[in-house]
Amino acid sequence: MSPTTSTILVTGGCGYVGSHTVLSLLESGYNVVVLDNLSNTSFGNSTNATTAAETPEALKRIQRILSIEDKPIPFYAVDIVDRPALVNIFESHPDISTVIHCAGLKSVGESGRVPLDYYNVNIAGTVNLLQVMEEFNVRRIVFSSSATVYGDPPKIPIPETSPIVASMSPYGRTKVFLEHIIRDMCVASTVKQSDYEKEQTRKGAAIEKDYRWSAILLRYFNPAGAHPSGIMGEDPQGIPNNLMPYLAQVAVGNLEKLTVFGQDYPTKDGTCIRDYLHVVDCADGHVAALEKIELEESVGNFECKAYNLGAGTGCSVLDMVRAFSKAVGRDLPYVISARRPGDVPNLTADPSLANKELNWKAVKTLDEMCEDLWRWQRNNPKGYRTV
Ligand code: WQD
Repeated sequence: MSPTTSTILVTGGCGYVGSHTVLSLLESGYNVVVLDNLSNTSFGNSTNATTAAETPEALKRIQRILSIEDKPIPFYAVDIVDRPALVNIFESHPDISTVIHCAGLKSVGESGRVPLDYYNVNIAGTVNLLQVMEEFNVRRIVFSSSATVYGDPPKIPIPETSPIVASMSPYGRTKVFLEHIIRDMCVASTVKQSDYEKEQTRKGAAIEKDYRWSAILLRYFNPAGAHPSGIMGEDPQGIPNNLMPYLAQVAVGNLEKLTVFGQDYPTKDGTCIRDYLHVVDCADGHVAALEKIELEESVGNFECKAYNLGAGTGCSVLDMVRAFSKAVGRDLPYVISARRPGDVPNLTADPSLANKELNWKAVKTLDEMCEDLWRWQRNNPKGYRTV
């Protein structure tokens, strides 16, 4: 199936990773439809989601980068819990071949305060989506999972064979549950196909249907940075939870200083180590996953497989403060505080499986990540919105 004939539905396509993935897909020649409930993206000039529904800022930025302002990107201001709205999208776009599923609530801290919201949107919303996909015979999904599924892993760097645990935040548990749900669905579809084929053969009838699913679970480590154009980047609502967008707000003066959550971890400088990868590399990983599914299905393989999307290098919080200070051109202020509940000392990927089987590798450097983030943030100093 060539890019020009297949349409990809990107849920959460106005979010940080989702919007960069939409851009990467369009650059690779795919047709794209975008769904987003606009709960964590800029509304641009509009003051709320309903007035921004026609063309969210994130998609306008993509159009500017690609100089396709005259070519609207099909967009639906929809929440994945809204089943009739999902049905409408699939009815309106019968050419959707695959879903890249990035939509979901993603704050570790917030999930501990409102777990039911996280289980409703992330779990029930995804089950909703999968059921509607099945109804429309769309059986390919690339799922936005997370390194958080590894909990506090026994081995660094972390291979995909490291056990996945449900002992972190409710947010982390939704990712673990969803990996199991998607895997169970794929296994059941293979059994269903086998039973169907046996029955058809018994009846001497042709095999006309294929119930099998293909799924790739992408375990993101820590996406960071912004598009090199400076036109697009992380544009969260509210005060950022994650390190790099928070640090970027400090750099533009919207926040006073960074609070470093703990300096007593068993690491080189006492602060947590993470595997930061450029968001553009992360986005390209989704296109690589899509191409992998298409390749495997062309030879009759229908699998559910997880891959780490990481650079394979670990950086401490203080490493990142130093690297971003260098890009900004001045030392950014920080204070050390107590540990943040749920943080683990080190999450660094072993990316060799994705390198080999997806033919994908994080190629952008830490300096590029910081320079691109600074270019984006200084172009967009308006800061977070407390909506
Ligand atoms: C990184 C490091 C913090 C903020 C989580 C999710 C993951 C993904 C990314 C959604 C940690 C420290 C942070 C701050 C700090 N979620 N930190 N001060 O926790 O590795 O991953 O977010 O996309 O699935 O698990 O990312 O950026 O929050 O934290 O010291 O103000 O920076 O303690 O060590 P994390 P993070």
